[in-house]
Amino acid sequence: MPKVYIETYGCQMNVADSETVASILAKSGYELTDNMHTADVVLVNTCSVRENAETRVYGRLAVFRQLRKANPDVIVGVLGCMAERVKENLITKQGVDLVAGPDSYRTLPELLSKTSSGGKAIDVELSTEETYAGICPTRLESNGISGFVSITRGCNNFCTYCIVPYTRGRERSRDPKDIITEALDLQSRGYKELTLLGQNVNSYAFNETRHETRDTRHETQNPIPDTRNLTPDTWSFPRLLEEVALAVPGMRIRFTTSHPKDMSDETLRVIARNSNICRHIHLPVQSGSNRILKLMNRKYDRDWYLSRIRMIREVLPDCGITTDVFCGFPSETDDDHQDSLALMKEVRFDFAFMFKYSERPGTYAADHLPDDVDEEVKSARLQEIISLQGEIGLASNRSDIGKVFDVLAEGTSKKSKVQLYGRNQQNKVIVFPMEDKKPGDIVRVVVTDCTGATLKGDRV
Ligand code: SAH
Ligand code: SF4
Ligand code: F3S
Repeated sequence: MPKVYIETYGCQMNVADSETVASILAKSGYELTDNMHTADVVLVNTCSVRENAETRVYGRLAVFRQLRKANPDVIVGVLGCMAERVKENLITKQGVDLVAGPDSYRTLPELLSKTSSGGKAIDVELSTEETYAGICPTRLESNGISGFVSITRGCNNFCTYCIVPYTRGRERSRDPKDIITEALDLQSRGYKELTLLGQNVNSYAFNETRHETRDTRHETQNPIPDTRNLTPDTWSFPRLLEEVALAVPGMRIRFTTSHPKDMSDETLRVIARNSNICRHIHLPVQSGSNRILKLMNRKYDRDWYLSRIRMIREVLPDCGITTDVFCGFPSETDDDHQDSLALMKEVRFDFAFMFKYSERPGTYAADHLPDDVDEEVKSARLQEIISLQGEIGLASNRSDIGKVFDVLAEGTSKKSKVQLYGRNQQNKVIVFPMEDKKPGDIVRVVVTDCTGATLKGDRV
């Protein structure tokens, strides 16, 4: 059997896709390997979201070229978002053999057979229908405790800075039957937690009789949850979330990402009444400035965002709230930046992913809005954002001291063999004494101490 090695970069959706790829290849006679040096096929699943994500992959491609010097028969393939964005240049300029975009994975066995006779193969066709229905992912690199289930593919939002709608194509919702089957599969394999994945999970909509996708590119700024004319046979996100929670009552359910414009009260109520849905919402704000949010085409403003936060706190008082924020969007002034800092102080996020704007070729911003914030200014603003969030995150962790949480143990602490680490529902990492417990157990822990990054606790 030919051996295939898969390396994955980018978001959780890429991790989930690599598992789909592994499943497709296993069915056509490939064996998976963790060792790229003994592999016949080396695949890298890539990300294009910021320039540095691509730089990293170019570095790996250089390593794979070396690998081929040692073994000229090895086939090197690029999958994922960079395959879709860079296309045949990966073959002509980077010397790879195979390029397959996110909607082409079913054709991988054919593409590979083309390359086995020394040819090159490329398929970067995007689809409005492909959801990999009927393919049960092969779980890779997993701890066997926490798994991903993709519920939507693609994105219709066209935030002006973002490459994802171009690399992943139009939004499609997967059949709820497939989603629940995958949840049950994870449960039967002993998994204790699953995360429902999509670029914007809240816009999930599956019609059992007539499945439509909607292009929201030209819709005006006016966020209304559930504008989708849901009929009784249509599955919305809250319905799906609840059905999954009920289907696997012994598992913890998470979901990501929620777009603020579509974060509905009904979703919050579903979380409130199902104790196995984790009290954690990742709600990327991106900026605190109304002017910048408008230029970003985020379709909400600061007040809308803050009203969503108030609603979360009202319905789910113990909910962890995390975000994505980035500085240096075209024309961002110091006042705009101050608005972002002020919003962070007001919301007090438990955690944030923080970035500098990176112009992505082909996006609306790249074509229409000059990347005019100096690199030093971007760096200085990012530093301010990081240090503010550092203080807020530490204070949030300190306020947990004395509280008791159920922690899903995920593994042995890197620093000590007699300590386990895991996460509470709010998605904070807690380290605590192992005693008779093992990864996969849910353990009651009282928080006794913390750093900015982790909570420390004792068993209760
Ligand atoms: N679908 C998710 C996010 C996907 S990309 C959402 O809408 O929230 C993950 C994060 O990368 C984004 O939330 C944003 O903060 C950041 N990002 C996306 N494009 C970027 C760019 N061009 N430059 C810098 N950060 C970017
Ligand atoms: Fe990108 Fe916006 Fe879609 Fe998120 S919602 S993937 S940021 S276009
Ligand atoms: Fe990156 Fe594509 Fe995900 S650009 S963030 S891997 S959807």
